[in-house]
Amino acid sequence: MRKRVGMTLFFILISASILLDHGASGVGSDKVSVSVMEGDSVTLFTGVDTNQQEKIKWYFNDIRIAQINGDLSCNCTDVQCNEGTERFRDRLKLDHQTGSLTITNIRNTDSGEYVLKIINNNNNDMTFNVSVHAVPDAVMDKMKRKSVKEGESVILDPGEIRKPNDVMTWYFYEILITEITGDQSKICTDVQCKERFRDRLKLDHQTGSLTIMNIRNTDSGVYKLQINNSRFSIIKSFDVALIG
Ligand SMILES: *[C@@H]1O[C@H](CO)[C@@H](O)[C@H](O)[C@H]1NC(C)=O
Ligand SMILES: *[C@@H]1O[C@H](CO)[C@@H](O)[C@H](O)[C@H]1NC(C)=O
Ligand SMILES: *[C@@H]1O[C@H](CO)[C@@H](O)[C@H](O)[C@H]1NC(C)=O
Repeated sequence: MRKRVGMTLFFILISASILLDHGASGVGSDKVSVSVMEGDSVTLFTGVDTNQQEKIKWYFNDIRIAQINGDLSCNCTDVQCNEGTERFRDRLKLDHQTGSLTITNIRNTDSGEYVLKIINNNNNDMTFNVSVHAVPDAVMDKMKRKSVKEGESVILDPGEIRKPNDVMTWYFYEILITEITGDQSKICTDVQCKERFRDRLKLDHQTGSLTIMNIRNTDSGVYKLQINNSRFSIIKSFDVALIG
């Protein structure tokens, strides 16, 4: 019963966040709304290539957390940028090529405004309003940690409605298993995938949820769903374990 209430509450939260997202995205083109769940990984894209000698600075609620200098002499992330402020510990990554910022294993307290300043001829600013939804442990476990018996099926459900411009890609370690782009989807097109999962996968086009049927021993491990649009990318991880 409690689980049911948890799940319902959770879906209300998700629906609400999708509504807010859509509401916000119409306002000013320079503010990007990013809505994620605790535990997700998020990459915020700069849309530039720093080979063009730009300086890039990232701020979280006005604190500088990462930067790349045009002269390549000083890059920093978090601790190096602001001594003593170890909010993100080892959870920040800066792509040296693009300046894109990745926050791994995101927490509720990481919610807020991430401002990107690109110092070049145009002095562009871009703001990402990141809202991280807390998910009760029990709900998170049910959704992301799956225990199944050999021969059973398992459904990996991201718990969201796919937005039309999202590209959703499922991976099992390095193996690309499915991709949804617009109204096209590809399931298991490469050899590695076919050898492992042939005819045992089903994909829900609307939600991006993946069903693996007739589970085998070799299917246990980490499945990742990458959700991309032109401004950011989200990764959700799912663990599948075989029991018995
Ligand atoms: C800083 O980043 C650049 C790429 O933008 C890289 O080539 C360089 O090695 C980095 N410098 C340091 C000191 O890490
Ligand atoms: C950021 O997004 C949240 C929820 O999506 C919203 O409540 C908040 O007002 C937004 N903040 C700004 C500064 O736009
Ligand atoms: C999604 O974005 C990541 C960068 O975070 C990139 O490496 C990956 O290739 C993108 N995937 C697709 C399908 O565009």
